[in-house]
Amino acid sequence: MASPGPLFRPFTRLVKIQILGREYPVPENNTLLRCFQYLQPEPVALGRFCWNEDCQYCRVVFDQGEGSAARAALSCKLMAAEGMRITEISREIRYCLRGLALPVSGQPREE
Ligand code: FES
Repeated sequence: MASPGPLFRPFTRLVKIQILGREYPVPENNTLLRCFQYLQPEPVALGRFCWNEDCQYCRVVFDQGEGSAARAALSCKLMAAEGMRITEISREIRYCLRGLALPVSGQPREE
């Protein structure tokens, strides 16, 4: 019987990304959806994701930092990168990341 292989692509360090204004370390060299799974393993594994660019449930809006343009993307296709800022997430992603208690508005939370 064949092994399914490792869940994450090989990585040697974590990069910092922002999700709705909060910073999280995630494994480099992995797609954003896989990074979401790194942060919330079981909920993302149980999410209704095709992982194959078909379902569209993994949509995000992101930029690469201050002054860069916002772009829409599929997180199952997009590679996470240092300094990436995810400013909008789909309903399915929000549900799967509920354990992070992300801000509702998508704006940085006042603390
Ligand atoms: S997980 Fe289905 S399109 Fe990305």
